[in-house]
Amino acid sequence: MGIAIARRLGSGYEFLLADVAQDRLDQAAAQLAEQGIRAEGMVCDIAHRPSVGRLLDRAAAMGQVAAVIHTAGLSPHMADPGRIMEVNALGTAYMIEETYRVIAHGGVMVNISSMAGHNIPAGGPYDQALERPLEEGFLAAAAQLVQGMASQAGETGAAYVLSKYFTIRYSKQNAARFGQKGARIVSVSPGAIETPMGRTEYEAKGSRMAAMLEMTPISRFGQASEIASAVAFLVGPDASYITGTDLLCDGGFIGASQNPQVGQE
Ligand SMILES: NC(=O)c1ccc[n+]([C@@H]2O[C@H](COP(=O)([O-])OP(=O)(O)OC[C@H]3O[C@@H](n4cnc5c(N)ncnc54)[C@H](O)[C@@H]3O)[C@@H](O)[C@H]2O)c1
Repeated sequence: MGIAIARRLGSGYEFLLADVAQDRLDQAAAQLAEQGIRAEGMVCDIAHRPSVGRLLDRAAAMGQVAAVIHTAGLSPHMADPGRIMEVNALGTAYMIEETYRVIAHGGVMVNISSMAGHNIPAGGPYDQALERPLEEGFLAAAAQLVQGMASQAGETGAAYVLSKYFTIRYSKQNAARFGQKGARIVSVSPGAIETPMGRTEYEAKGSRMAAMLEMTPISRFGQASEIASAVAFLVGPDASYITGTDLLCDGGFIGASQNPQVGQE
């Protein structure tokens, strides 16, 4: 998704790409170079705060930090529940903190969440435990929540849902702070998107995936380019009054699945 977004934003920016895996960075830079987009790459583990600090220092050294698009993440079949929370939730908190330090006036941060994060109603019992990710005990409290939720989705699924709910919520929580710097912060929640991660998850889901697609009003997988278009809108001047909110780009799945009776004759 990150590559599609860089491609969509095009040559108006100087890009700094980040990934934990050097080979994925090299691949991404090569793909963008083919389209005449120059991008520097830097290895970064978002779950390691000093690594994130170095990344944003490098971005600031390159010029005004106008946009930070945070797409890194692990899906349920990629890691254990602890690592999923560490990367997707704590890593997002680190990304937000270090971005806040360097973001330019007029800048915007977009955090990629997931429609999975919409499966937890806001204002419920989880909010208190997720309130202060930078304080000690955050991951332990999250692990307890995950155990409590696990009966429905398995522990890795529960960790993914919780981490993506956290991403939506913590992005909103930071809007006032970003506003004080003249910057915006939003999240985007993709549905089933055809990327390497998407394919891994949807192969694992098997027939449940077919049922999901059937329930989706736009009854197909989304493309990374469609998420990139949403991000380009949010980054651009047409979204100048949009901050502290989430944009659900899921082909309508969440709306349809949470309101199954509506429209059924
Ligand atoms: N593909 C989908 O269907 C889908 C749906 C909803 C949400 N999402 C979310 O969209 C985002 C992008 O997903 P994608 O489909 O492009 O997946 P992807 O696996 O192609 O890309 C994710 C990238 O994150 C990197 N990464 C993993 N751990 C990291 C870490 N600790 N530090 C830095 N980089 C790390 C991986 O190396 C990988 O290149 C993710 O946050 C994902 O949860 C994807």
